[in-house]
Amino acid sequence: MFKGSTVSSTDSRVAMKLSKNNRDFVLAEMRGFLESVQLINNGIVNNDVSKVIEGGKKSGGSVIAHAPQGMMASLPMGFKKIGFATHDLFDEFSKTTKENFNTANTQKQLDVLLNKCIACHRTYKIEITE
Ligand code: HEC
Repeated sequence: MFKGSTVSSTDSRVAMKLSKNNRDFVLAEMRGFLESVQLINNGIVNNDVSKVIEGGKKSGGSVIAHAPQGMMASLPMGFKKIGFATHDLFDEFSKTTKENFNTANTQKQLDVLLNKCIACHRTYKIEITE
């Protein structure tokens, strides 16, 4: 299996070679992540479970199905691992809060999630291939 393609980088991160189309997809998903984090935090601040569920669903695993064809093969395995784990954590928000909404627990989950954002941003960046 093709394990993704990387090139040398001007900083300490691994530079992933992606087509423009795939880059745009990943970055749009990222902007969606930030919006989802805002929704979840808004739900914590206002004790509003519907916002937490909305944020969790928006960036849950189902978005992977919309990825451009062939994109998965061009991503390094380590990136995909953190990426899938991140989508799973978003799914957890809707699952756990449906059963029992507790803002302190949701905040803890958000902390775990934000550490995934940080771990991946520290490690990877995008380089364009034509
Ligand atoms: C699996 C890896 C990974 C995870 C997890 C991840 N990111 Fe990213 N993110 C990236 C990469 C790679 C870039 C592009 C960075 C670069 O090329 O310098 C990026 C860019 C972004 C951008 C800029 C988007 C743009 O249009 O330029 C935002 C905002 C962002 N991420 C938010 C988040 C948030 C919030 C989370 C956590 C909920 C998150 N990301 C989790 C890999 C990840």
